[in-house]
Amino acid sequence: MPHSENIAVIGAGLMGHGIAQIFASQGHRVSLSDVSDEILAKAIASIRANLTLMAQSGIGRQEEIEPAIGRIRLTRKLEEAATDAQFVVEAVTENLGVKQKLFQELDSICSSNTILATNTSVISITEIAARAARRDRIVGTHFWNPPYLIPLVEVIKGQETSPEVVDLTADLLRSVGKHPVKVKKDVPGFVGNRLQHALWREAISIVDRGIADPETVDEVIKKGFGIRLPVLGPIETADMVGLDLTMAIHDYILKHLESSPEPAPILKEKVKKGELGFKTGQGFQKWSTEEVQRSRQKLLEYLLKWTNEQKGK
Ligand code: NAI
Repeated sequence: MPHSENIAVIGAGLMGHGIAQIFASQGHRVSLSDVSDEILAKAIASIRANLTLMAQSGIGRQEEIEPAIGRIRLTRKLEEAATDAQFVVEAVTENLGVKQKLFQELDSICSSNTILATNTSVISITEIAARAARRDRIVGTHFWNPPYLIPLVEVIKGQETSPEVVDLTADLLRSVGKHPVKVKKDVPGFVGNRLQHALWREAISIVDRGIADPETVDEVIKKGFGIRLPVLGPIETADMVGLDLTMAIHDYILKHLESSPEPAPILKEKVKKGELGFKTGQGFQKWSTEEVQRSRQKLLEYLLKWTNEQKGK
């Protein structure tokens, strides 16, 4: 499978165009499919812009950009995109019915040994596969945005996914420079979003309960324990401080932490008032157009710098 040539990416939106870019940059032939020519044209323009920015930052070379784009074939027809693919990854709208129908269609289009992957961020892989015949070939591949800069891909085994499919998928992802991790159980949120939203729930609860203001919550992470996270994850940190101490801390603190299964009242209130964050200029904080742009730019520059630093390692 690492030598697989033909990749199909279904859905050319925010995630799909970035996933197509990864495979095309690494020499694979990619068919990229979506419902309109406009979306496909926009996807190619975004890929060109991403690769140009990366080359300007020292990641990849300018002269490799057009050959990579030349390996991407655009089509509105699913059959045309997937028929000769050894690996199909779907990044269509996050809707169970749409995804189930897609995998049913892929059943009759693809050969019996094609791997069929879904980039869902929350839906159960087992449910997505439920209406398809070749459920053992369907696997979760959860990329993170932007997929061409964030290395992690969670490879999720659905209840009926064959272990061989999980292994081959991880091998393929590794061969194009990604960092696959295997998730053994198909649970909501997989691993990354469970961890991420456990933190967000507590962060929002702290604001809601008036313990600290929103800026302070973020500052505590950015200037505090967030700095050591890239070198020491929470499990390693628990080992470092000692499991006896970890247990004593949990014994005291867990009952005080937020455990509500509902979104926080402050979050519901803000959404009701239309205070949605960047897109409305007001969320937990006020955001001017310039601040929104600066924040996005800061993140992009950070990710490009981080990617560059990893090259030598
Ligand atoms: P998006 O809305 O930007 O793109 C989805 C694309 O799928 C649209 O261009 C749409 O026209 C197309 N589409 C819908 N039905 C289709 C069909 N039957 N055939 C072909 N194309 C079809 O959405 P986005 O953000 O790229 O998300 C795609 C998937 O990736 C979702 O499952 C989402 O949950 C997941 N995801 C999103 C992340 C994010 O940060 N946005 C992160 C990780 C996963």
